[in-house]
Amino acid sequence: MNRIDPHTLAPPPDFAPAVPAVEVLSAEKTYPNGTQALLPVDLSIAEGEFVTLLGPSGCGKSTLLKMVAGMLEPSDGRLLVWRRPVAQLHESSHKMSFVFQSPTLMPWASVRTNVRLPLDLAGVPRKEADARVMESLELVGLQKFADALPRALSGGMQMRVSIARGLVTQPDLLLMDEPFGALDEITRHKLDADLLELWRKKKLTVIFVTHSIHEAVFLSSRVVMMAARPGRVVEEFRIDEPYPRSADFMVTPEFARYAKQLQDSLLRASSTDEEAAR
Ligand SMILES: Nc1ncnc2c1ncn2[C@@H]1O[C@H](COP(=O)(O)OP(=O)(O)O)[C@@H](O)[C@H]1O
Ligand SMILES: [Mg+2]
Repeated sequence: MNRIDPHTLAPPPDFAPAVPAVEVLSAEKTYPNGTQALLPVDLSIAEGEFVTLLGPSGCGKSTLLKMVAGMLEPSDGRLLVWRRPVAQLHESSHKMSFVFQSPTLMPWASVRTNVRLPLDLAGVPRKEADARVMESLELVGLQKFADALPRALSGGMQMRVSIARGLVTQPDLLLMDEPFGALDEITRHKLDADLLELWRKKKLTVIFVTHSIHEAVFLSSRVVMMAARPGRVVEEFRIDEPYPRSADFMVTPEFARYAKQLQDSLLRASSTDEEAAR
């Protein structure tokens, strides 16, 4: 089937509607202590999109991502992944992985063992698992570090290990919660660029969470702006710039225009937050 390919944003002439990878259907979340973390959210993410959730701290970005991952139940509403309830995803051919903010590596185990963990848990035979670990390490440029311990690696390299562990199960959907938030600007930018390459090469669908407007513009095909107290989606922006995107994109007038739009929107989202807090 031919359909729009968001990796290039070039619709084929015989354009057909995109397949939804993730559907959030009036999903809301109130935690047991009464915190209203998310008002009902409706969001549809097509296969191959790179969608970023942006918004002030406490607006429910992590809550939404965890609900998509099935790590958290919505209080009301539903979430579908490739048209199935998240809990039934294992019955389909699709897979997802979650990459956390901190690399959460086992410090006593080698890079190889850390990356192999999801395959060991799934009972994949050692030989096959090791081959897949090496492929995955190659994707993030760490094949020479398979036998190193995490503490021998820089923060950026540890994050790459964490991404390799996320990729080793060959997911179609990658959920990333502020994965590069703790890294310095240059390392972050390098990882952003590499992530875009991976997204294109592997035709992934990505839901990415960040605080950074520049990171959001650089990476995303679409940005979803959220506001806090109570958490909710307030605006959406398409970043209609072709891929591949290089660092040159970041010094174009278009980039500045998108960044300004997001900045204004983020200010609006944060001011409603302050008004509510008064
Ligand atoms: N386990 C929890 N129990 C109670 N409240 C929570 C819990 N986790 C998050 N919250 C609250 O829910 C709101 C949204 O949190 P979160 O999803 O972590 O936001 P974000 O990731 O955008 O910073 C915040 O007010 C936060 O304090
Ligand atoms: Mg969070």
